[in-house]
Amino acid sequence: MNDLKRIAVFTSGGDSPGMNAAIRAVVKTGLYYNLETFGIYRGYQGIVNDLISPLKKKDVLNILPLGGTILKSARCKEFMTPEGREKAYGNLKKHKIDALVAIGGDGTFTGAKVFMNEFDFPVIGLPGTIDNDLFGTDYTIGYDTAVNTVVSAVDKLRDTAYSHDMVFIVEVMGRDAGFIALRSGMASGAGKILIPETKTHIDELLERLQRRMSEEETSAIIMVAEGDDFGGAMEVKKIVNERFPNLSTRVTILGHIQRGGSPSAFDRVLASGLGYQAVKGLVEGISGVMVGSVNRQIEFVPFDKSIKHHDKINLELKSITEILAL
Ligand code: F6P
Repeated sequence: MNDLKRIAVFTSGGDSPGMNAAIRAVVKTGLYYNLETFGIYRGYQGIVNDLISPLKKKDVLNILPLGGTILKSARCKEFMTPEGREKAYGNLKKHKIDALVAIGGDGTFTGAKVFMNEFDFPVIGLPGTIDNDLFGTDYTIGYDTAVNTVVSAVDKLRDTAYSHDMVFIVEVMGRDAGFIALRSGMASGAGKILIPETKTHIDELLERLQRRMSEEETSAIIMVAEGDDFGGAMEVKKIVNERFPNLSTRVTILGHIQRGGSPSAFDRVLASGLGYQAVKGLVEGISGVMVGSVNRQIEFVPFDKSIKHHDKINLELKSITEILAL
C-alpha cells in the first residue's frame, strides 16, 4: 500500500465501446479505496490545457451501457513536446493528482511511458481500442462490440448478396491490424479475408471467385481490413471488375459505426474488471504497465511490451474460415 490520495482518469485515441464502463469502474473502485478521482477531458489535451475536474459517483451513474466516452477523446500534438508535458505535469501537481489511469491504445501508452519516465509519475493503462492490437491482453475493451457490429451488418448484406447474386466487398477498420476482419470474417462466413499481417495474393482471390462461380455459387462476402497491403475495398473491387466484368460487385465501407454503440456484455465485464484492477494496482504501487487479461488471468504488461508486440493474431482462423467457405 502507498499513500495515494488522488487519481485521475482519461481516455485517449479512438473511442471504443466500454470506455465508459471502465471509467465507472475506476471511479467506484476509487471510492472503495477512499481515493478522490478526477476526470481529465479530451485525453492528453486536457492534461495540457487543465480540463481536469472531480468525478463523483453521480457522474458515473448510468454510464455503464453507453458507447463513446463521457470524458471525450482527442489527439494532442502539444503533449509530444517537452514544453507540453511540462505544462501537463504542472496541472497535475496543481490538482494534487498522485497517479493516472490512461485508457487507450498504443499511442496512449507511448505518451504515458515518456511522461512517466520524465517526471517519475505513476501511470497505469487500460487497453481501450476496437483494434485488439495490444500485446498482453487477449481482448481489448471495445473489440468484441465492434466485431458484433460488423457481423450484424454483414448478415444484412448477405441477404442482398444472395437475393441479387452479388459479391460484397466489405471494408472494416484496422489500419495496422486484421483482428476485426479476421474474427468478424469467420463469424459471418466470409469467403476470403484480407489483412495487413499477411501478404495478399490477389490471384488467389480471383481464382477462388472463379471457382465459386463455376460451381454456380452466385454470391460471396470478401472481408478486407482497411490496412491490407493490397489496398482497401475499392482497390479490390477494381481488380475483380476488370477480371469478371459480368459479376455484380458492391463495396460497403463500415467505417466509424464500428467504434460506436452500446458495449456488449463481454466488453462491459472486461472493462469493469480491468478498471477495478487498475486502481487496485495503483494502490499497491504498480505503475508503468497496461492491465490485461490473458487466459482469464489478470496480467500487468510493461507499456513497452504492450505497444511493440502485435504478433498475437491467430492466422489459423484465416485458413479455417477459407476452408469452411469452400
Ligand atoms: O484506432 C482505432 C481505429 O478505429 C483504426 O482501426 C482506424 O484506422 C482509426 O481508428 C480511424 O480513426 P480516425 O477517426 O482517426 O480516422
